[in-house]
Amino acid sequence: MYVELVECSNMDFDKRRFVLASDRDLEDIFASNADTVLINTAMGEAVRGQGPSSQPRPNSRSGMKALAERQEVASRIHQSAAGLKNALSGFMTDGEADYRVFAPMAKDLTDAMRETPAIALELTRMKTKDEGTFVHSLAVGAMMARVGEAMGVDAHGVEMLGLAGVLHDFGKLLIPNSILKKQGALTPQERGVIHSHPQLGYHKLKTYRGMPEMILDVCLHHHELLDGSGYPDKLRDQGISTEVRISTVCDVFDALTSVRSYKKAWTTEQALSWLFENEARFDRKVVVKLAEITDAYALSA
Ligand SMILES: [Fe+2]
Ligand SMILES: [Fe+2]
Repeated sequence: MYVELVECSNMDFDKRRFVLASDRDLEDIFASNADTVLINTAMGEAVRGQGPSSQPRPNSRSGMKALAERQEVASRIHQSAAGLKNALSGFMTDGEADYRVFAPMAKDLTDAMRETPAIALELTRMKTKDEGTFVHSLAVGAMMARVGEAMGVDAHGVEMLGLAGVLHDFGKLLIPNSILKKQGALTPQERGVIHSHPQLGYHKLKTYRGMPEMILDVCLHHHELLDGSGYPDKLRDQGISTEVRISTVCDVFDALTSVRSYKKAWTTEQALSWLFENEARFDRKVVVKLAEITDAYALSA
């Protein structure tokens, strides 16, 4: 069993990655005051859980109830995707629009996420071909809001993170479908056009009244990576804000766990494991929070 992280005040364990060699090691962890223990299931046995202070979570939900809940989640998602598609097309054609037209949508999204925690994860698996970008945007918005909440961001900040996620790929709406939805390999020139979506979105969003700087920052920089290998500005480390780091992790997690024409969807565990292994590029604190959120969902589903 590969222990990715133990969060506790005991310095013997805190922030260490190690292979759990014996039952004695496991007993030592449970005897500590650990808040959270994350086991990297891709590296070993599939056992994950929380520390001794946590109550065991119920896992006896009936299949019928779970199915009904999934259908409810699916219907809310498809309604929201249709609503987002309408709102974004109105936003595109009306240069005087105020970004606050999206505020009720961000609130709905964060409220729905609190009522049904499954939404953030189910969103990633429920895209139809036509609504791909819209559902991706909702999924990233919901995950960013949840991660922000888990990191202690206040209610207004959580809503703004949700909105930043909803708008992060706005620039893709400005790219012709012949390139965006092209089947098969892209030419270097077409790849260049797709890679321009952060700047396209940023310049368009900047023309709207009152657009918060944080949302512009997320739109322009959500493909930047901590080691400087991202785009468009090749920012590194401290040059990348916390909100952008949250967006990068959530964006990549959604991409990895989605089915694409050229690949199968990765499982949550595979995607988290890959993000943990690439800590030079993705903020480990954010990945840990995302892992805690997905773990809570997995154990309560
Ligand atoms: Fe993007
Ligand atoms: Fe994206």
